[in-house]
Order: sequence, then structure tokens, then C-alpha cells
Amino acid sequence: MGDLTDARLAEKLGGDFDLITCHGVLSYTPQPGRALKTMAGCLAKGGALYLGVNGAGHPATALRPWLEKFGVAVDTLRDERRVRELLRLWDALHDDDLGELATMPASYLASDVCGAWFNNWSLAQWRAEARRTGWEVAGTAILPAALRLAMEGDRHAPLYPAGVGELAERLDDVRPAGFHRIMLRRALRRGGEPSLRWTGLYTVRVKAGVARFFAGALSVRFETNLTTREAALLAILLEEKMAPTGWVEAWMRSKSGRRRLWEWAALGMVAGGDSD
Ligand SMILES: C[S@@+](CC[C@H](N)C(=O)[O-])C[C@H]1O[C@@H](n2cnc3c(N)ncnc32)[C@H](O)[C@@H]1O
Repeated sequence: MGDLTDARLAEKLGGDFDLITCHGVLSYTPQPGRALKTMAGCLAKGGALYLGVNGAGHPATALRPWLEKFGVAVDTLRDERRVRELLRLWDALHDDDLGELATMPASYLASDVCGAWFNNWSLAQWRAEARRTGWEVAGTAILPAALRLAMEGDRHAPLYPAGVGELAERLDDVRPAGFHRIMLRRALRRGGEPSLRWTGLYTVRVKAGVARFFAGALSVRFETNLTTREAALLAILLEEKMAPTGWVEAWMRSKSGRRRLWEWAALGMVAGGDSD
């Protein structure tokens, strides 16, 4: 397709892509910021960028020095029985979602695990690089699950105030992801009108002040108590008639309203809000 760090890429490919997906690339480029800038030039107005990149919890970060302690020359890794034995031991001690390393082909181990990797970054680092180049985090794949853990037993209050990106960062600081799946959009100018829409990822049942949410695509199911105002706003969002009248606007700008909308945005229920 072309070099993502080529400043003339938009001229060559066009500048009106609604969605750009960039998976497993920016962890291996020495200047991811340059690629983020180039991709911004290729994006249509209102478009989005999906970024799949290594996290601080990526196994290579700890695996490389660990293998070296056993005398393995990781820079020139050879696919030997002893290396596979060590990887089997590593797998037994790890319960992550990145698969069994001991069964990976030698080419994967040589490049992704023991190669000269560049950027196994925390979400805070990826977010800083994105913000520097005019992007903001609209959501991350692990955010709903991590936030739900914090919401259990109502322990999430210290996380706020925070927009979606900051929430995701605060949770990733505690539970560093091995791999990030991040949706980015161009940063909104501050002071713009909040415009919210229902993402359609959830089905909702509201009964006697309790709302039950279910998102099959995200494997998320939870229930929450709603105030009368929240229930009314939810009904407006669900009916897609989001025309903020006086009280809706006032509620959205109030401390409790903003907090609730951030939560809903972080869980992937609403999007496009004045969230960051
Ligand atoms: C680990 S592979 C991932 C390939 C594929 N996206 C996937 O997920 O299976 C990394 C890819 O990044 C590409 N790459 C690295 N730097 C690049 C750059 N500056 N511009 C475009 N592609 C780049 C490499 O060519 C390689 O195909």
C-alpha cells in the first residue's frame, strides 16, 4: 500500500477514508507519531482510526530478560528444545489472552517476542502520542470489562472526573494490557456542542427504575439503578431523537450528568459525546 511515514501518502491514496485500520504495525515503526500524522491526512471528516498495538503487558517486555537469565541469546534466537521448554514453563505460569507462546512458529518468536521490538507501550504512552498528533481516544476494547470490574461494589468513584481516554488510561495503569485495540477520532475543538448518539451495541430493558443492559457483541451484561432524569435521557437516546431540551442540556452539563455520560461512553453505550 505504501509507507505510513511518507508525508505524501494522502496525495497518493486519497484523503477521504471513513475508517482506517492499522493492526500490528505501529509497535514496529520507530516513529509512530509520523504514521499517526500521515493517517490523519487520509481520513474523511468524522472518520475513525482503529489501532491495534502492543501494550506494556506484552510478554516480550518481561520474557526477553527472563530468557537471558537462562543463558538464551535472544538477539539471535535459535529454535531449540531448551527454548521451547522454557516457553512451556512461561505459558504454564501465565494466564493471558495472547495465546500459548510455546506453540508459536519460530518466525513469530524471532520477530514479535525476541526481535528488536520498539514500542510495547502503556495506553498512557499511546494516548500521549495520539494527542500530540491531534487524535483522541474514543474507546478501547478492554475498557468496558475493566470499568465493569471497578463498578462492581460501586468502587469506581475515584476514577472521575475523567473522559473516555483518561478512564482507559487509569485502568490500563493498574491492569496493563498486552495488546491494545483502540478507536481514535480527530480531537474535537473544545467548547463545541455535545452531540450524543446511541451506539446500538446494547439492548436495554427498563423496569421500576432498574435498567438491564446487554451487549452480545461485547459479552457485556449488567444492570444499574437509574434516576428519573437518567431514565428519560436514556429513552431519548434509544429513540434517536437527541434534541437536547433545557433540562437535558443542563443535566448533561451538571457534574452527575457528565459523570453518567462518561460512564456510558466508556461502556460503549453512547458515542460522539463531549467526553475527553
Ligand atoms: C507484524 S506485521 C502485521 C501485519 C498485519 N497488519 C497483521 O496484522 O497481520 C507488521 C507489518 O507492519 C508493516 N510496516 C512496518 N512499518 C511500516 C511503515 N512505515 N509503513 C507501512 N507498513 C509498515 C510491515 O511491512 C509488516 O507487514
